Amino acid sequence: MICTALGSQQAVDFVHTAVRTGYAEYFRTAMERVDGMLDESFGKLALSQSGGANPGKLLEATSFILKNTFNKGDTSFWFNQAYHEYKTHIKPETDFQQLKQLISGRRVLDYGCGSGYLAVRLERGGFDVFTTDVLDYRYEEAKHLPFIRMSSPRDVQYPDNSVDTALVQAVLHHIEPNDLPVVIQRLGKIAKHLLIKEDTYDLPPDLDGRDRLLAAQPLLRAFVGLPRDAQFQVLILIDFFANAIAQGIPEMNMPFEFKTIDEWRQILTSNGFSVNRTQVLGFEAGRMHKSCHVWLLCERMA
Ligand SMILES: C[S@@+](CC[C@H](N)C(=O)[O-])C[C@H]1O[C@@H](n2cnc3c(N)ncnc32)[C@H](O)[C@@H]1O
Repeated sequence: MICTALGSQQAVDFVHTAVRTGYAEYFRTAMERVDGMLDESFGKLALSQSGGANPGKLLEATSFILKNTFNKGDTSFWFNQAYHEYKTHIKPETDFQQLKQLISGRRVLDYGCGSGYLAVRLERGGFDVFTTDVLDYRYEEAKHLPFIRMSSPRDVQYPDNSVDTALVQAVLHHIEPNDLPVVIQRLGKIAKHLLIKEDTYDLPPDLDGRDRLLAAQPLLRAFVGLPRDAQFQVLILIDFFANAIAQGIPEMNMPFEFKTIDEWRQILTSNGFSVNRTQVLGFEAGRMHKSCHVWLLCERMA
């Protein structure tokens, strides 16, 4: 899927611009260097697929970029230092300011917690936080929190009704379609409330606040102007770039199961949840990797 998406110049150009826009908010004085890195990365990635979809060449290009462009082995490299500061302090703070208004109750399960920095911020904000993930790349600062490593995404070992809200931020699109209903049903046993953040596309025309969002966000305007399949490819490339390149975790499970808001509503409803609120954030200011983000606030049906 990544290879095919890289074959779309329209998608590559959009993602290049979107990533540049996000980085420009953080690297105002280093944009020459940022542009050099982005030009090289997107140029090499697109070139690797210019003869047709070729996973081997994608792997080669990704390894080259990780090693030579983003210097992923070198934590003292300026980009890696800035990105670490973003992921460990700035992003968790931005997330927390949104989440404290969206989470129901005090006990929260961070499903797919990743580095654990958001979980730590939630704990500092007064929540009782439990964490789980299929990978374990938690930073030291998060290791005091309860954590259960899942042997598979279905294997959520926290007891029934042990938390109020299951938070699932940027995880569901990594889950294989066969596992998804089981995961949602399992989370419905553990928590009454499910709070989902996803990257979405093909926004419904009657979406509440759509005109206001479009007026405020040039990137969103350009995104909704793309054909539906190009929007999907954009989500793939942003997710790939953020996780595999900037974060440096190419081994993350990436089936890219992005869905429209209506598709999410349908899946959630048929697996025991009602979707009580849908809040589209779009390509928000302050995010280094901007995408078409949406929050879905769900409640277990009686
Ligand atoms: C993009 S990261 C998001 C991390 C964190 N929730 C956040 O918002 O920063 C996706 C996380 O989902 C986890 N993940 C990937 N595939 C998964 C799966 N099939 N089931 C559960 N978690 C998965 C990854 O290990 C990763 O930590």
